[in-house]
Amino acid sequence: MRVIDIREVLRIEAACFQTPWPSNAFHNELSDNKLAHYFVARSGEEIVAYAGVWVILEDAHITTVAVHPSQQRQRYGERMLIKLLEEAVDRGASWVTLEVRESNVAAQKLYEKYGFTTMNVRRGYYSDNDENALVMWAGNVKGAIFQNRLAALKERLH
Ligand SMILES: CC(C)(COP(=O)(O)OP(=O)(O)OC[C@H]1O[C@@H](n2cnc3c(N)ncnc32)[C@H](O)[C@@H]1OP(=O)(O)O)[C@@H](O)C(=O)NCCC(=O)NCCS
Repeated sequence: MRVIDIREVLRIEAACFQTPWPSNAFHNELSDNKLAHYFVARSGEEIVAYAGVWVILEDAHITTVAVHPSQQRQRYGERMLIKLLEEAVDRGASWVTLEVRESNVAAQKLYEKYGFTTMNVRRGYYSDNDENALVMWAGNVKGAIFQNRLAALKERLH
């Protein structure tokens, strides 16, 4: 993701989330946060998905994954997640975590498919509706078990 992509990204952000990130949040992530790595997926010229991860030594934190509503269920979410996992491992991460709304079953299924499990619940984490966050986690992502699973899922995508 580059700064010039932000306008398009914000349209997807608004279509996907109840409390969308403002433009300056993306600006800060791209320009000031050395730990942050953001990617977009395109169909032709158009951005259809984006995702980001922070990598802090051995820990990675997925900050966002979003696919334009008209393009969902076409495996863009999977492709973005694979990209984030590969980036995290390349940068040295062993553990990957994220928060997801308790009601967001689609996203939970995506993460579970890639080996994440729910470790804990943060009560009332989302202030807009007091919804709980599930804290999901994948461990030992550099290890053979995780890497073989990732390779098999990636192979199936092709
Ligand atoms: C969650 C999201 C990223 C999934 O992306 P997607 O491109 O639509 O999903 P994919 O086509 O890559 O599907 C991959 C897997 O995700 C799960 N999944 C995706 N959509 C699902 C749905 N509506 N119901 C149940 N499972 C779903 C399935 O496990 C699926 O694998 P399968 O087809 O083998 O069962 C997308 O729905 C989205 O952007 N939602 C709005 C934003 C959001 O909630 N982001 C996550 C914040 S934590």
